[in-house]
Amino acid sequence: MKHIKYKFSNSSTDFYFAYGISHLKEVTDPKATVLITDENIFRAHNKRFKGWNTIVLKPGEEFKVQATVDSVIEQLIGLEADRKTTLVGIGGGVITDITGYVASVYMRGLRFGFIPTSLLALVDASIGGKNGIDVGVYKNMVGIIRQPSFILHDMIFLNTLPQREWENGFAEIIKHACIKDAAMFRELESMSLKKYQKNKTAICQLVQRNATIKAKVVQQDEFEKNERRLLNFGHTLGHALENQYDLMHGQAVSIGMTYACHISEQLAGFKQVGKVVKVLEQYQLPTYTSFDKQKAFEVLKMDKKRERKEMNYVLLEKIGKGVVKSIPLIELEKIISSL
Ligand SMILES: NC(=O)c1ccc[n+]([C@@H]2O[C@H](COP(=O)([O-])OP(=O)(O)OC[C@H]3O[C@@H](n4cnc5c(N)ncnc54)[C@H](O)[C@@H]3O)[C@@H](O)[C@H]2O)c1
Ligand SMILES: [Zn+2]
Repeated sequence: MKHIKYKFSNSSTDFYFAYGISHLKEVTDPKATVLITDENIFRAHNKRFKGWNTIVLKPGEEFKVQATVDSVIEQLIGLEADRKTTLVGIGGGVITDITGYVASVYMRGLRFGFIPTSLLALVDASIGGKNGIDVGVYKNMVGIIRQPSFILHDMIFLNTLPQREWENGFAEIIKHACIKDAAMFRELESMSLKKYQKNKTAICQLVQRNATIKAKVVQQDEFEKNERRLLNFGHTLGHALENQYDLMHGQAVSIGMTYACHISEQLAGFKQVGKVVKVLEQYQLPTYTSFDKQKAFEVLKMDKKRERKEMNYVLLEKIGKGVVKSIPLIELEKIISSL
């Protein structure tokens, strides 16, 4: 158990690493709290929700949309939630994104916190305060940056996480290693999904290490002017493919990282493409895939990292060192069509 407070520009988040859901009542008053989760998690862990007001949503990315937000708001009105209510999202990235977004707009803003239950949410989605929803094929098109008051880890939830969701989470872990942490990359090379799943201490340490990497990057640049952009490694092309081809987020990011490595080879002198691809495959993630280049580019150019006629693309100089390069759209179109 470890408690760390990270301060951001005008708020802070208490991290409770490896605490357990039983600690939630110390952090928020059950009488003034509404939990938000999805059907899969509620079904697998229903005893753990006893005694708490809970809104249960349908699982899946297709429900990370405005219609779900409206339905949560109607249920909050039904529960007479007011400005003193705390919302707690217990789930994967879809649930944490929706909860953070609803909490930011309901009555102009409530306190909120998360208990991330997927690997991806533990190491990434729950951290950093970006909360939003999709609009059609455009991922996270609408949203807000607002930090949760607390993030509590209960590793027991991982016991019921489906195998493909483990793989999904490793994409973001490999991403962190590529942009920031060469030593962690070496650890990943020497380990495997199975070894981490069997070794509770190793997975606990890996989760904390990754949560810390993300929290520190966000701390340096909460509103994504510089450093935080690095976290988009693999995401520009990844997002363009994710909803178009109905991929899991981690799969899309893995394909995006593969091609970003090749673009890095062309534009940043990167020489370790093979190593990155090998680790992605070691964790059962997809790498080279055929896709409609023109269609992908059409979606990609609407990405939030675009600034007029240039795209801020995250590349690698070497493993452990990500850089942001501004690529003119005309050049990027050529590069993408030649991939
Ligand atoms: N806000 C951010 O900074 C940020 C960062 C990364 C990703 N995201 C978002 O996160 C989402 C992806 O997150 P995700 O992969 O966690 O998706 P998810 O919330 O859809 O969860 C994946 C699946 O696993 C199930 N699940 C989760 N935890 C479980 C558990 N402990 N036991 C059994 N089943 C469980 C869910 O019901 C769901 O079916 C995407 O929408 C992505 O855009 C946001
Ligand atoms: Zn991601």
